[in-house]
Amino acid sequence: MCLLSLAQQAVAKSSDRILDLDLSTELNHGIVVSNLAYDVAKELGKDETFCYQMAIAGLLHDIGKLKLTGYIDGQEKDPLLIEELKYVRMHSALGYEELKNQNYSETVLKSILYHHENYDGSGYPENLSGDSIPLGARILRVCDVYAALSSDRPYRKAFDVETVMELMIDEIKNFDMEVFLAFQRVIHNNE
Ligand SMILES: [Fe+2]
Repeated sequence: MCLLSLAQQAVAKSSDRILDLDLSTELNHGIVVSNLAYDVAKELGKDETFCYQMAIAGLLHDIGKLKLTGYIDGQEKDPLLIEELKYVRMHSALGYEELKNQNYSETVLKSILYHHENYDGSGYPENLSGDSIPLGARILRVCDVYAALSSDRPYRKAFDVETVMELMIDEIKNFDMEVFLAFQRVIHNNE
């Protein structure tokens, strides 16, 4: 099973709407990503300042989702799911806009803005690829996917670590290999 089919499964089973936000789930997800992103940055040999920025970015990376409800409220009562997906894709830019005048560092802001960019250029919002994606965003990308797959969702149970790793390796084109290997060592050390 690949990530795309998991996403399709999510949409198909979704009588829960994509934009039904559960705040405690979102917060938990942020905390997991925050801790992982800090550890991966450490594993990559980055200094404490950078690792701390990663912890902040991890906690706040999806904050733009809170803005989405406002956009949806202005739409048709029951917009097509595909339309919702389009709005969901705005959340990284909305998060950036929300935080950019609040004294967060450039590292934190760019990590959040680009946390859905894929290494092969297939992500959003700007289809950046390779090392033109800021390192912080490449770290968040890996940690975010891991945290999502290894936690319960309304439409499925959490996958075990081994399955999560297999699913991520299937989608390795999305990730920076150096970051992914550091992340694997972190997970291995935590086991
Ligand atoms: Fe996100």
